[in-house]
Amino acid sequence: MNGKFPQHFLWGGAVAANQVEGAYQTDGKGLSTSDLQPQGIFGAITPRAAGDSGIKDVAIDFYHRYPQDIALFAEMGFKCLRTSIAWTRIFPQGDEETPNEAGLAFYDRLFDEMAKYGIQPLITLSHYEMPYGLVKRYGGWGDRRTIDFFERYARTVFERYKHKVKHWLTFNEINMSLHAPFTGVGLPPESDKSAIYQAIHHQLVASAKAVKACHEIVPEGKIGNMLLGGILYPLSCKPEDLLETQRQNRDWLFFGDVQARGYYPAYMQRFFRENGIQVAITEEDRRTLRETIDFISFSYYMSGCVTADPEQYETARGNILDMVPNPHLASSEWGWQIDPIGLRYLLNVLYDRYQKPLFIVENGLGAKDRVEADGSINDDYRINYLNDHLVQVAEAIDDGVEVMGYTSWGPIDLVSASKAEMSKRYGFIHVDRDDAGNGSLERRRKKSFYWYRDVIHSNGTSLKDRR
Ligand code: BG6
Repeated sequence: MNGKFPQHFLWGGAVAANQVEGAYQTDGKGLSTSDLQPQGIFGAITPRAAGDSGIKDVAIDFYHRYPQDIALFAEMGFKCLRTSIAWTRIFPQGDEETPNEAGLAFYDRLFDEMAKYGIQPLITLSHYEMPYGLVKRYGGWGDRRTIDFFERYARTVFERYKHKVKHWLTFNEINMSLHAPFTGVGLPPESDKSAIYQAIHHQLVASAKAVKACHEIVPEGKIGNMLLGGILYPLSCKPEDLLETQRQNRDWLFFGDVQARGYYPAYMQRFFRENGIQVAITEEDRRTLRETIDFISFSYYMSGCVTADPEQYETARGNILDMVPNPHLASSEWGWQIDPIGLRYLLNVLYDRYQKPLFIVENGLGAKDRVEADGSINDDYRINYLNDHLVQVAEAIDDGVEVMGYTSWGPIDLVSASKAEMSKRYGFIHVDRDDAGNGSLERRRKKSFYWYRDVIHSNGTSLKDRR
């Protein structure tokens, strides 16, 4: 491992409002799409009655406990914390003319607390949630008017926090709409492909509008996109498998292509035609899309395989996307295949394709932890996972890839997105809460807490090449 992390590398962690804050109706917050899916992003959409009924309603109570949590992140030496703004704290129904001051004031307090320790915020405008009001009244991103509501929201928060936040992201895992349409674009799960791609188009236009607004309002800031980096390999070297792999990788790279290059890639024309997909794109939309992002950000948890043979095509157990299991890789307790080398490969793929700086804004291991009788939590499995991935980041840096930073997913235990579980833990900091919502919410440092502190303090030189 020869690669050296740059001097100002942004080490830190990443969380999302709906998975940590709780306080889902506090200070005027409106209901979000996430509030309507108490069982997670693949769960049923349930109308909410008054009162707490979902684990996310309290989550880890970050809304009230953030000073203590930020202090713990500072103790690890964080340079950066990625979180999101809950759109519904600012515009509770989504279509109001004026923002909710109490919601804006909360994020002022949060960013001020981070500034005390020199922790830079990296802020996602929309992380797996949008105002439910926009879904009910307009049909979510299916309606062009949602672009304007989003732009109003984006401009509001850029104006308000322009002196406090310099790094922004538009939509979390924007390609996830293909797999979870309600979460991604506020459409019913059974929506047809034309409806989904039309909504995605509106979201891509909104993303470009946010980029433009950020460049105008926060001129010294930087704004990126956010992709679910599910890189796929051919299961065999059969040319048919290779071609199918290229096609399936384009399913998600398409989003990056539009956001980084400013236009629809040629291959989408054939894809739309052969799948009977109609998308209305205006000339003005095409002009708007030319406003491109400054950097690429992505999540990376696993890789997967592709085969063109329908008989071999089976779904990998627990993988969030339909991937064929790779026979050479081990899996996490949730069936997500562990592939540190895939991260180096992905970094190179994205850098070759876009020549823009890259930011790894999610990576981590969801695992069950055991609290020992003496209160310690010896999460060596998590340390090994993160260590091995970071060694590959160093290799990619040595390959010449420009990497801005690394924010591990869930530096503090939080509610998982896919199934709304507490028992799937990612944190360096343990939170006393179980899947049924029992527990004191007390925070406790795990063994990985001290390990990550050393990694950051040594700027990566404490990492071990275990190959
Ligand atoms: C990403 C999301 O898909 O993966 C996060 O951006 C999510 O919100 C993370 O939490 C891990 O997934 P899960 O289902 O284990 O929480």
